[in-house]
Amino acid sequence: MNPTKTRAWQALEAHSSSFNLHLRDLLTDPARVSAQTIRLDDLLLFDYSKHRVTEETLGLLEQLFVETGAAEGFQAMLRGDKINATEGRAVLHTALRDPRTEPLLVDGVDVRALASGERHRMYAFADAVRAGRKRGHTGLRFNHIVNIGIGGSDLGPRMAYEALKPFSDRDLQIHFVSNVDGADLHECLRQLDPERTLFLVASKTFTTQETMANAEAARAWLIQQLGDPACTEKHFVALSTNAEKVAAFGITPEHTFGFWDWVGGRYSVWSAIGMPLCIALGSEQFQSFLDGAHRIDRHAAEAPFRQNIPQIMAALGIWYRNFLGASSHAVLPYDQYLHRFAAYLQQADMESNGKSVDRDGNRVTYATGPVVWGEPGTNGQHAFYQLIHQGTELIPSDFIASVHPQHPLHAHHAKLLSNFLAQTEALALGRPTAPTPYKVFEGNKPTSTFLFDALTPYALGALIALYEHKIFFQGHVWNIYPYDQWGVELGKEMANIVLPELEGDGPIGTHDASTAALIAHVRGLQQG
Ligand code: F6P
Repeated sequence: MNPTKTRAWQALEAHSSSFNLHLRDLLTDPARVSAQTIRLDDLLLFDYSKHRVTEETLGLLEQLFVETGAAEGFQAMLRGDKINATEGRAVLHTALRDPRTEPLLVDGVDVRALASGERHRMYAFADAVRAGRKRGHTGLRFNHIVNIGIGGSDLGPRMAYEALKPFSDRDLQIHFVSNVDGADLHECLRQLDPERTLFLVASKTFTTQETMANAEAARAWLIQQLGDPACTEKHFVALSTNAEKVAAFGITPEHTFGFWDWVGGRYSVWSAIGMPLCIALGSEQFQSFLDGAHRIDRHAAEAPFRQNIPQIMAALGIWYRNFLGASSHAVLPYDQYLHRFAAYLQQADMESNGKSVDRDGNRVTYATGPVVWGEPGTNGQHAFYQLIHQGTELIPSDFIASVHPQHPLHAHHAKLLSNFLAQTEALALGRPTAPTPYKVFEGNKPTSTFLFDALTPYALGALIALYEHKIFFQGHVWNIYPYDQWGVELGKEMANIVLPELEGDGPIGTHDASTAALIAHVRGLQQG
């Protein structure tokens, strides 16, 4: 339903127009902090008390969730309803990490059994690579693993591998190649020992231009290095839903790990797309990563609104986006291992909720997904925090850290955490008086604090799932379809028109005047 038609939305509009409380005043109340802090197991403490909300605001946001049927919508996703209606698909990344064995049927097929079967094939393969039971064409163990994929077939496993490096086998070097810019593959190939390199071609569709260009070039390189076209058999693995295209590329069924159309690309790290992570960590720790996500699936489905972390994350985002005018959302991990987390979330969130047509096919009349961005603290403090503190934009921010570090430099960690805590306090309280106006900090800048006990595989699984479900709840309330991505098509199609024009010497087709001139300029310089 159109959320603006709910009573809650209208009440929130009235409430926001008269909302003039400052976090300085709100945060004097310790009862507020206990009411707005969620401790989940020995995993995470989530503090949402540093937000411009009162009990009334939270009550209205809860009402908005009730009126729009958010909790029922979540159940519909979990049970396999085809909520990705524009593609006619169920959305079941949650089934990939669900340990239950009772059948969950989609079109008469038990998706839990499918997922579990393929997961155990992946586990056997990954553990065999780690143990040296799977070897290359010349009999050597693999020590370079190269994931070739882009978007969801890159960002999730890459981010998670970086985040969990301390848990990985350091004798294995895991590389990620994504860009169609040849520099990416070129720089990777320079580091490899061909006899000891395993290529994972990760592509849901197995048709993506970037991935296929890189996979073909990698294959040509390997054959040239090892001098035998048969060498590719042992050195190439496919992670894909498209078994036919994989076979046509020449990868064996034994080296093909599948998933299904009910797994969206940006939600696929839990599937065979997690293979590089699984090889790096081993199957036991990969399973723990899945278990952490499943813990959040249960939490999101069962916890009441005020104790439900992803629902609160989503509701606060809606409050700022639709009622207080925020257009972006910063994600600031105080954890160097999470240095790719914002990049990962950009796809997860912006490709999901960057939509302007509602579920009835109408142009929305309200804002949807914000720009998501961020960098690890403390680096960001020396770059863009100036704007968050003293600029004219309202930027709600997520601060993420762990109490226990995954490295032995504990004195560094105390410094890191002191910055982490001080920044949210400074943003909330500001400094209302100063000798010059330039040194005044207005404060009242909202933040959420995510404090993990430690960033383990289990915790990372949980962290990702929290954001996945935040995205679900926001998309649901906004009445849009979060699980398609038609907005990436047009540019791809037009690139296919431009490519032959750049490479050939025939006439340049019909373009706008700017693009036609740019094509002519490139051709002129390249072709002399
Ligand atoms: O960028 C569009 C997109 O379709 C993403 O949704 C997807 O994750 C990515 O391309 C890669 O697609 P594939 O895994 O099919 O190569």
